[in-house]
Parts: sequence; structure tokens; C-alpha cells
Amino acid sequence: MSEPLFQDIIRKRRSVRKFEPGHQIGRDVLERIVDCGRWAPSGANVQCFDFIVVDQPALRDRVTEVFLRQAQRLVDHAKGFPAVKKTYLANTVAIVIVLGDPRWKVCFPQPTSKGWEAEYRDNNEVIFLNSIGAAIQNIQLGVAAEGLTSAWLSGGGEAIINKELSNVLGYPEWMRAYGTIPIGYPAATQNRRYRRPLSQSLHWNGYQPMQYRTHAQVDFYESTLRPFAMYRDEESLDAWDDRAEKLGDWDAAFTSDVPNPGGKLEPEADFSAPRTTGQATKRRTKD
Ligand SMILES: Cc1cc2nc3c(=O)[nH]c(=O)nc-3n(C[C@H](O)[C@H](O)[C@H](O)COP(=O)(O)O)c2cc1C
Repeated sequence: MSEPLFQDIIRKRRSVRKFEPGHQIGRDVLERIVDCGRWAPSGANVQCFDFIVVDQPALRDRVTEVFLRQAQRLVDHAKGFPAVKKTYLANTVAIVIVLGDPRWKVCFPQPTSKGWEAEYRDNNEVIFLNSIGAAIQNIQLGVAAEGLTSAWLSGGGEAIINKELSNVLGYPEWMRAYGTIPIGYPAATQNRRYRRPLSQSLHWNGYQPMQYRTHAQVDFYESTLRPFAMYRDEESLDAWDDRAEKLGDWDAAFTSDVPNPGGKLEPEADFSAPRTTGQATKRRTKD
């Protein structure tokens, strides 16, 4: 059998949230996977990440409990977001936690005068988070290359959950679990996932205004389309049997080459509060 192409591995890397129970895996495989993270690029080559691999079942169960609480907090306090239950973590062969170590930001460009502090603080944050994201992505690709599957969980992004994880895993609380990657054998086939047509996201030689997605389109995705686009096993919305029902007037915006035929751009807008009615408007609080 020939080796899979790198592009095949990229496409195979899927967020799977259902694992077969009862499997084990060798540390040699886990080391190869984590080594992919080690080879990620990072700003100033600071390697501002550490990888905690949990392969002891008892510890895995404690990490799982933290994520069950995290999922419940989403249900209670981030209403409308279509999260799935995290009980599947109990069936992982291992969980990799990617820690970010903020001290290393000092090695990124630093301002030499007061007026430039905000400028470089923002820039440092971008470099820091991108470096960690690259490591998480490399690990997920390493998992796919081993014929296993994984997910990318951002639960440690909430301070309280990070504190709980640091208690369970023993890292300093001022470091942060930016990404958690449960690894396992898939219990569901999840080969495909919605992606915008390449012709929409690829801009040749400058931003093409006809490929711009309007504010209203973002609103529609958030309020209505998101749970289906996140979880359905299809790359193209053309394949959905209920395409007309789900997309309605938004069909061309999501499936054609030009979501914005008029080519008109809009000024920046405030998306902090729900703007349209739909499933996600549950997040609107009563006070
Ligand atoms: C920064 C980031 C945070 C994410 N956080 C979560 C998460 O907390 N829980 C989860 O189930 N999936 C999470 N995901 C996975 C996305 O939902 C998933 O990548 C997306 O729906 C596309 O599906 P795919 O990974 O199968 O292509 C996250 C992905 C990224 C890049």
C-alpha cells in the first residue's frame, strides 16, 4: 500500500467526538504524535508550549470530569452554542494538553517607547497564540497520520477550567491549557466537513470584494446554520437533502463563487450581541 499524500492527511484530520472504547496505544505512537507538535514553528523559535500526555486511565477520568463541568458551564452560561457532550473523553487512548507559557512573549518584539506599548502587546499576543495553534494543528495532523482521530478542545481557555486542569495536572496556574486534544479510535465515520468553496476563500492578487461575506451572512451562520455546518458529514452544502429548507435565500451566498455579487464592503460592526433571531439568540440574557 502506498503512503498517503500529505494533502490526504490534511483532509483526514477531522474533529471526531465519538471514540471506540477499550483500546490502548503504545507510547512510541504518542511520542511520534507529540514530536509533530515539537516541530511546529514559533515566534523567535521560543517554543512557548509544553505537552502533557495523559495515558493513565485514572488521570484521564479526572481530566474528563473537568471537561464535563466545562461543557455544563457552556450549557448554563453560553446558551445557543451548539456544543456536544464530552463524555466521549472517557473512551480516549490518550489526551494531549498543549500548555502555553506566556513568559516567552518577552522574546517577541518589545516597544522601546511608551506610545508603542499597546501596538506590541497586541502583536505579541498574535505571535504567541499563533505559535500555540501551530503546535496543536501539527499534533492533530500527527494523529491523523497514525490512522487515529482527535478533536481540538479549547476548554482550558476559560480561567476556571484552566485552574481545575492545573490542579489535576500540576502545572503552574499562570500557564494555560490553550488546546486539549483527545485521541482515540473513531466510533463514527466522519470523513467530510463543510468547507467554503475554494473559489470563495481564495483571493488572487488582492482582496476580491465579490468574495466578501456580508454582516448579514455572518448573522445567518451564527443564528441558524452553525450547528449543521459544524457537525454534518458533508463538505459541500450542495449535498444536503434539506438544502433549500436550511439555506433559504442564503443558498447562493454559501454555495456560489460570489457571495457578494454587488461587491460592496461594509464598515466594521458590533457583533457582541445577537443581531438576528435564531437558535443562538438563546444567548441573549434577560438582564
Ligand atoms: C481554536 C479552536 C477551538 C476549538 N474548540 C473546540 C471545542 O472546544 N470543542 C469542540 O468540540 N471542537 C472545537 N474545535 C473544533 C471545531 O469545531 C472544528 O475544527 C470545526 O467545526 C471544523 O470541523 P473539522 O475539525 O472536522 O474540520 C475547535 C477548533 C479550533 C481551531
